[in-house]
Amino acid sequence: MSHPLWWKEAIIYEIYARSFQDSNGDGIGDLEGIRRRLDYLCWLGIDAIWITPVYPSPMRDFGYDVSNYCDIDPIFGSLVDFDRLVADAHARGLKIVMDFVPNHTSDQHPWFVESRSSRTARRRDWYIWRDGKDGGPPNNWISNFGGSAWERDDATGQYYYHAFLREQPDLNWRNPEVRAAMHDTLRFWLDRGVDGFRMDVLWHLMKDPELRDNPPNPAYQPSQAEIEKLLQVYSADHPDIHGVIKELRGVLDAYPDRVLIGEIYLPLQRLVAYYGEDMSGAHLPFNFQLLQTPWNARMIASVIAEYEGLLSPKTWPNWVLGNHDKPRIAARVGQAQARVAAMLLLTLRGTPTLYYGDELGIGQVSIPPERVQDPWERNEPGLGLGRDPERTPMQWDASPGAGFTTGTPWLPLSPDAAASNVDSLARDETSILSLYRKLIAMRREHPALRAGSYTQLTIEGGDDVLGYIRQHGSERWIVLLNLGASDVTVQSDALAGARVRISTHLDREGDLAAERVILRPAEGLLLQQSSS
Ligand code: NOJ
Ligand code: CA
Repeated sequence: MSHPLWWKEAIIYEIYARSFQDSNGDGIGDLEGIRRRLDYLCWLGIDAIWITPVYPSPMRDFGYDVSNYCDIDPIFGSLVDFDRLVADAHARGLKIVMDFVPNHTSDQHPWFVESRSSRTARRRDWYIWRDGKDGGPPNNWISNFGGSAWERDDATGQYYYHAFLREQPDLNWRNPEVRAAMHDTLRFWLDRGVDGFRMDVLWHLMKDPELRDNPPNPAYQPSQAEIEKLLQVYSADHPDIHGVIKELRGVLDAYPDRVLIGEIYLPLQRLVAYYGEDMSGAHLPFNFQLLQTPWNARMIASVIAEYEGLLSPKTWPNWVLGNHDKPRIAARVGQAQARVAAMLLLTLRGTPTLYYGDELGIGQVSIPPERVQDPWERNEPGLGLGRDPERTPMQWDASPGAGFTTGTPWLPLSPDAAASNVDSLARDETSILSLYRKLIAMRREHPALRAGSYTQLTIEGGDDVLGYIRQHGSERWIVLLNLGASDVTVQSDALAGARVRISTHLDREGDLAAERVILRPAEGLLLQQSSS
């Protein structure tokens, strides 16, 4: 797939680097491992892989604490391995999207080591340093992983700000030297041929210059993460962010056909601002609504309608079904509905991002306390915030290490790995993996499924059914998804002359007998109108 706007047609597949494929038996996934699995990714039919951070890092937040933006951590391999991966991926027509972590560095990054060395250090202002107030931190901001977001540094008696771990100090993006240095790091990878970046916590980069206190959140419940105590009014999503993103976009635009994807957790109305004025912002501000909306047909229909309503003709939609920070879809909605979710993701208008292992239906994995890795789980235990369950190793075959490793995997494998793995599911014609593959192939083959218009279908008496039409020229498709656990009869003129192309159960195809169809529990149907 190579044309300037390839990312509009593409299906993106997120690889959590530590968990995809280990090539040297240390139990941790690596670049060479990913390279060896490129044929699988082509077989599945995806177009681009986004790889979570592989830069040198003390791994306090598993790579989101970068100590050098222009190298590869030895755990993952070397620059030579990286170049080979890019070359081999490109040879197969696959794009490589890197993870860029602009908001914070590791506290071991030489910039921070220098910054903290004295109040007059040359790079002091590269980070956010302030005097304390009334014997405490400069303001009330809370870290995303719990506790104050300020750390007092004994050497100089000042506090530095960290939106995440104390080992992840925030860079000061108001400093032009910081911006220039970070632009250079992007060019380092662009010159190596990467096709774009997923930019970490992009809405965090610019904060209120006065660092005012955040107001309390009246809806906060003690079962929530501590950060939810406050509304993030002043600590993120400052209007100045859009100028910063425009500059980042300028760096990418000096190279042909690169994509800028933004990780942005904001309500839709604020999210769409990240396309930027005159489309000068992110190409794809990640839309996380499917991760956040209860699994309810009415609610999902209204989220789609809201999003579609907010987009202008120039803005391109996108949908994300899973990532390394949120419980897996099958853990949330169950195995049967995970198949419905696959059909939803792959038939909506806009670029889909899927998360490795969701195509196998990996569900809830409980992590024994002694094997917990995620620092968030350690900081705020017992609230179910830990992200290890969605980071367990990819399941390739029925061998003891699931084909992921010959050693001990860094996180336990899902107990169902011996039964549900690529090897077994690829041979089962009705498996969730076969469903993913069929849906992906259908989407690639039919422009209406990628670029067609979206029209919601009103289904009488079918509160559990989400229905919509995708149309492009004379090509017309109907999607009916039963999010409930009972049979539902759908009767609609829209079904005239329709033929089932895919059922999520993978056990029926062909013409409908009448303008009605019975959806079984947790059944999704992709229907094609015969005139098309
Ligand atoms: C979002 C990343 O996806 C997450 O894994 C990380 O902990 C935070 N950003 C901080 O970088
Ligand atoms: Ca390894």
